[in-house]
Amino acid sequence: MQGRRPLIAGNWKMHKTPAEAREWCAGFRDRLPAVPPGVDVAVCPPFTALEAVSAALRGHPAWVAAQTISDQPSGPHTGEVSASMVFGCGARGSILGHSERRAMGETDAMVASRVRAALDAGLRPIICIGESLDEREGGVTSEILADQLMVAIGVVRANEVDRIVIAYEPIWAIGTGRMATPEMAQETIAAMRASAAPHLDANRLRILYGGSVTPASARELLVAPDIDGALVGGASLDPESFAMIIEAAG
Ligand code: PGA
Repeated sequence: MQGRRPLIAGNWKMHKTPAEAREWCAGFRDRLPAVPPGVDVAVCPPFTALEAVSAALRGHPAWVAAQTISDQPSGPHTGEVSASMVFGCGARGSILGHSERRAMGETDAMVASRVRAALDAGLRPIICIGESLDEREGGVTSEILADQLMVAIGVVRANEVDRIVIAYEPIWAIGTGRMATPEMAQETIAAMRASAAPHLDANRLRILYGGSVTPASARELLVAPDIDGALVGGASLDPESFAMIIEAAG
């Protein structure tokens, strides 16, 4: 990892009411009152639970992040939520460009403008990048990933590299129980790091893996030299299994 701190981030997707979120936080704090030294942890609840989770995790080292933001600061955008609004609810980061949002029409350009809006508001973007099964089988994975990555980091200034996180999430591995092998994830992430190198200091760029990570698979994944942590969906909904993945990163 060459000095990069591992980050374990939990993506709750569209799960948990504020009351359920508070219950999760209580269980998580009991199970993991401190995180292993050198490990960063983020919890990404839906907008409606951001404030509850921020309050319930006050004083705990885990930081709170949203799952997306608008690229606009304010205005006539019914249903949208701005970076400063989630910041005001205690978020210090946001997942951006998750494949479930790209599938609804979010383009690389839209992701890039959200990345800029997040950075301008003091949020750390966790930018998701990934190929479909057809793209993997068609042998175009590295081009697809390099394209997505270039557009997203094109808006990032050289001195902001420590504030962004990339999450490599192969679409075919998300929610399927079919995790990429650690070898495949390592090889793909190393190639992504190499493709980022002309644009920023890629040795400082944190790149996570996401897609069907479980407590059982986390350790072998997280020992790979280029994999700087995990973005965890399903297994983050239970505080016990999320805590086990964090411990595996320690
Ligand atoms: P999963 O989701 O761990 O449930 O596969 C990961 C994600 O979508 O971020």
